Amino acid sequence: MKVLITGISRGIGAALAQYYLNQGYKVTGISRSSNPELQKNPNFSFISLDLKDIENLNEKLKLYLKDNLNFELVILNSGILGKLGDMIETSQDTITEVMNVNVWANKKIIDFIVSNSKPAQIVGISSGAAISASRGWNVYAISKAALNTMIKLYSEEFPQIHFAALAPGIVDTFMQDIISSYPEDSRFPVIKKLKQLKGTEYMPNPKSAAITIAEAIEKIKNMPSGQYYDVREI
Ligand SMILES: NC(=O)c1ccc[n+]([C@@H]2O[C@H](COP(=O)([O-])OP(=O)(O)OC[C@H]3O[C@@H](n4cnc5c(N)ncnc54)[C@H](OP(=O)(O)O)[C@@H]3O)[C@@H](O)[C@H]2O)c1
Repeated sequence: MKVLITGISRGIGAALAQYYLNQGYKVTGISRSSNPELQKNPNFSFISLDLKDIENLNEKLKLYLKDNLNFELVILNSGILGKLGDMIETSQDTITEVMNVNVWANKKIIDFIVSNSKPAQIVGISSGAAISASRGWNVYAISKAALNTMIKLYSEEFPQIHFAALAPGIVDTFMQDIISSYPEDSRFPVIKKLKQLKGTEYMPNPKSAAITIAEAIEKIKNMPSGQYYDVREI
């Protein structure tokens, strides 16, 4: 089986890539920087792409993926947080950057993949923030809610492909390091909550989270397409 995963340099994407390689799958990974551990595996291939650069993404996907298609599973995992804070203080530049990486780059990748191959399953890595929209999540919450909606729309256009938006749970990654580096602020209770979870069983490391996520990806294949699922609830 061939799997395409974005955001493989670290965190959840790196752990998922390692998980699928351990299962004997061929994995193609996309991110700006590679991952030396994954590179040691002959079944891993890496494409360096900056998903912020959506203008040139289609050309680059054509260039790098035209001879390496037929993925059965596509996991759109790359994501950025932007800045925790209030919408009123958020610049248009931050909004554009977060929406480009978390939503519009995924649209370009989906368009390219479905136009040139027939994957069985496409999973967009979402977040509970899409639903909670707790104060402080800011444009990140908007981007994940938009991702959920985009996944639903594609599922209606391509009923032969199983689409899902999947929240991976709280995982101890670089993204959580960034969140924990924010000072506690009574306006944004989510910062305090996540700081408290760091180092506990409620924030597993990427390796163990990847097992839960991969099992969820297998399970949701038999559930309705186009939906938002949370690994903690299925
Ligand atoms: N960790 C959590 O608790 C949690 C909870 C809910 C949802 N999520 C979601 O899970 C996904 C993975 O998050 P993570 O926690 O593993 O974060 P992470 O450790 O920060 O990893 C993010 C990955 O995205 C890639 N990426 C970022 N900007 C990119 C760009 N411009 N072009 C290409 N790739 C880019 C990074 O690679 P490069 O920097 O090398 O490009 C990296 O491999 C994200 O979509 C996140 O929103 C995470």
